[in-house]
Amino acid sequence: MAGNRTFTMLKPDSIESGNIGNILQMISNAGFEIKAMKLTQLSEDRAKKFYEVHKERPFYGELVEYMTSGPIIAAILEKDNAVEDFRTLIGATDPAEAADGTIRKLYAESKGRNAVHGSDSDENAVIEGNFHFEASELV
Ligand code: RTP
Ligand code: MG
Repeated sequence: MAGNRTFTMLKPDSIESGNIGNILQMISNAGFEIKAMKLTQLSEDRAKKFYEVHKERPFYGELVEYMTSGPIIAAILEKDNAVEDFRTLIGATDPAEAADGTIRKLYAESKGRNAVHGSDSDENAVIEGNFHFEASELV
């Protein structure tokens, strides 16, 4: 059975561009409930750890630099089929390939600076949620 929670980050470009209100409204309109949320900034060590799976990729250095360049909003979201439905809501990694009406189509600047993160599996949703939140921070 598909899990009912996912993890997201509104990335530094979303905050810089003033789009977090619009993005959170889209998330709410799509039926996701916020179970935990915080404004925070990733250190270089924590960004490297979060994206460790990509450490051999050519964009890793640029990704870590971008993700540490300013504050992010981290959140745990709840909805039936959360992981898959949230990936549909955010759209493809590259906004040029993202479907109309998706968050990345509307708000991402580029494949690298793409506004929002969404977990890619139930297992990673749990790992990523635990990376950012203590159990006592969840409602
Ligand atoms: P995310 O993990 O942030 O939700 O994004 P994703 O699954 O759609 O994409 P993923 O392959 O996991 O890549 C993680 C993030 O790395 C940056 N990226 N840059 N310049 C590039 O070619 C490139 N490719 C990926 C993006 O910020 C992407 O979201
Ligand atoms: Mg990913």
